[in-house]
Amino acid sequence: MWFRSWLALAVASSLFSISLVATFAQSTGQDHAQLRPTSSFDSIRDRRARSIALFTEAGKVLQHPRCVNCHPANDRPTQTDLMRSHQPLVVRGPDGHGVPGMTCATCHHENNFDAARVPGHPAWHLAPASMAWHGKSLGEICEQIKDPKRNGNRDMTTLIHHMSEDSLVGWAWAPGSDRTPAPGTQAMFGELINAWAASGAFCP
Ligand code: HEC
Ligand code: HEC
Repeated sequence: MWFRSWLALAVASSLFSISLVATFAQSTGQDHAQLRPTSSFDSIRDRRARSIALFTEAGKVLQHPRCVNCHPANDRPTQTDLMRSHQPLVVRGPDGHGVPGMTCATCHHENNFDAARVPGHPAWHLAPASMAWHGKSLGEICEQIKDPKRNGNRDMTTLIHHMSEDSLVGWAWAPGSDRTPAPGTQAMFGELINAWAASGAFCP
């Protein structure tokens, strides 16, 4: 008798811990995969604080490996979620498309080619050195993308348009193979950036 109740207790407690682990894994997984909707920041009354909170949320995308791999600190793109140096060795070249004999388009074609794990897009090339994000804080990235001298001479309207509409940026949500997509959707990211600009575009 004592044995049966002991067994029942043991089974019940192990089921309980399994479900705890499952719930925990699910919630942390979701935090990485999702973006908070813009409306969830409406309750922050202080304009500056709201702006910074919106940009910090958008930072989950900006600092994601899918974006940073193309905005490296030096002349060489990085790869994978670990942001390792690109193999084989390729460099930016004069216009971001590589150097003769080793252009990006040699391997990167119009679309993702999952059989060989090669990502693709018709305009696949590296961001200019002035747009390097790797190793920078979110505050530094924020100041930099607002600065027309470093952001490709974009005003706020073109900057918002670039982030919410550009299909090279959009690749990050459909990266092919087993790559982790950027969190949320490009539309949600665009809304966060829009609301950040509307609230004064303050930087963290
Ligand atoms: C010799 C072939 C080759 C050339 C040339 C090449 N790449 Fe790649 N690239 C690859 C392959 C293969 C991968 C996928 C690696 C993986 O994920 O395992 C890759 C991955 C990448 C990634 C990482 C995507 C991600 O988020 O994981 C970036 C960024 C990238 N390449 C940029 C470039 C740029 C920019 C150029 C030109 C300057 C270039 N590549 C030239 C073969 C090449
Ligand atoms: C395949 C490479 C590649 C990927 C992936 C990529 N970018 Fe870029 N990015 C570029 C290039 C190239 C430019 C320069 C384009 C120009 O000025 O015409 C650029 C410019 C930008 C700019 C302009 C301002 C500045 O200072 O950087 C923003 C903003 C930007 N990218 C955001 C993103 C975001 C957000 C992601 C991920 C969701 C992303 N990019 C992913 C290549 C890439």
